Amino acid sequence: MTTQPPGDTDDDGRFDSATERSSGTADRHPNAQPLPPGPDGYPIVGNTLEFVRDPFGFYDELEEYGDVVRYRVAGRTFAALFAPASVERVLVGEPKRFERFLFSDLGLDFAPEGLLFTDGAQWRTQRRAMQPAFTIDRIRSYADAMVDEAERTAESWRDGQPVALNRDFSDLTLRILSKALFDVDADPDAEDEPITRAARVINERGDSRRLSTFLPTWLPTPANRRFRRAMAAYRDRVDELIARRRADPDGDDLLSILLRTDDLSETEIRDNLITFTFAGHETTSLGLTYTCMLLAEHDDVAETLRRELETVLDGERPRFEHVPQLEYTERVLNEAMRLYPPAYVLFRRATEDAVVGGYRIPEGTVLSLPQFHLHTDERFYDDPEAFRPERWSEDRDRPEYAYFPFGGGPRHCIGMRFATLEMKLVLATLVRRFDLRLLSDPDPELAVGATLQPDEDVRVRVRRRS
Ligand code: HEM
Repeated sequence: MTTQPPGDTDDDGRFDSATERSSGTADRHPNAQPLPPGPDGYPIVGNTLEFVRDPFGFYDELEEYGDVVRYRVAGRTFAALFAPASVERVLVGEPKRFERFLFSDLGLDFAPEGLLFTDGAQWRTQRRAMQPAFTIDRIRSYADAMVDEAERTAESWRDGQPVALNRDFSDLTLRILSKALFDVDADPDAEDEPITRAARVINERGDSRRLSTFLPTWLPTPANRRFRRAMAAYRDRVDELIARRRADPDGDDLLSILLRTDDLSETEIRDNLITFTFAGHETTSLGLTYTCMLLAEHDDVAETLRRELETVLDGERPRFEHVPQLEYTERVLNEAMRLYPPAYVLFRRATEDAVVGGYRIPEGTVLSLPQFHLHTDERFYDDPEAFRPERWSEDRDRPEYAYFPFGGGPRHCIGMRFATLEMKLVLATLVRRFDLRLLSDPDPELAVGATLQPDEDVRVRVRRRS
């Protein structure tokens, strides 16, 4: 993730970057620029069918047209950006002109007053109020709970047992979040756990392989009804937890911290807790799932990782203080999130006419920033499909925004440090104790949901190390 200040951008020579940079000349006359090239598609539905059939292949086709490519899906005009400089310009350089777009008309605005969905002054006030809760000094207090929960998972794994990583990590990250957010021991196995159920329907609602995803939420389809029911139960559960904490407000959990700030309304607090549960749960679980899947296939990497853990931990239980020394662990995670970025495409909407990469972007166009594509572009990565954590220690000149698993600019992931700490501690706890053998496909089919889910379980056999 970058912390680079808003930068001047150069769109890889496609356009006179000095013109684009001067933030005036080009944009004063966007009409003078051509529209981006792109596939024609069918009348009315545009490229929707191609997209629904094979979203990943669809992006491969788009790339053939250049670094800025126009297409239409579900009645909306999109432009995909394949150049890091354009990604940087949109996320970092002019965040006001390109606002977050999250398909709220598809009913995914499950927490309208939370950080993900608010804009302008409301978003700024919230971000400022919540930022202190996510500093490294604050989140270090969650490190022990992260390791406790990872140890619970380790104890549940029997020698020789097959394990569905995505399921076990989904349970684990939900338990860790519930502890950090509410100081509650959530039981993801409980049939009536509203948090798990809501997380599942949100993902289902964003699954672009289902044509139902493109239907409006007011239609009484079974999926829509399921979605609304699950979300109502979820809100009730969070309200109940807020009421409980108000009666006993001295805790160290995130809810207690939010209740102590004066800048947030009751609804904003509730919607942000829902936002964190959603934004921090499957994302982190997927980061761990794909990392362990790749480790299970790459013995050399797993061995190097284990050697680092032996040296740094020296037989102790992992602690916050060990984390800065886990440099190879960090490279392994970076490399796994390069190949399998959990939040694999970001969207922005142009609030006014603009020029990006030399092309006219009319107001209302939705820009798609496909991480998964830029992360494997051979212009920036040698042997881009290979899992090679060492690449992160090599001196390679690559544009900053050829890699952005946590986004960038003012709206970058607020939970980045939390997630990184969590993933490192979980890996340190588990990889030390177990060998993993992959049982499922090493090149899994991916489902295009709200996050980058595997189509089928990612399964390994776990062997306890003495
Ligand atoms: C590996 C784990 C994670 C990944 C890959 C990830 C990725 C991202 C990305 C890419 C964005 C930016 C979206 C955009 O610009 O449109 C984002 C935003 C966000 N993330 Fe994360 N995230 C992770 C974990 C977490 C955790 C643990 C939390 C909370 C506890 C969290 C909370 C949020 C929130 C609230 C936002 C919206 C921030 C804003 O708009 O101000 N994320 N995340």
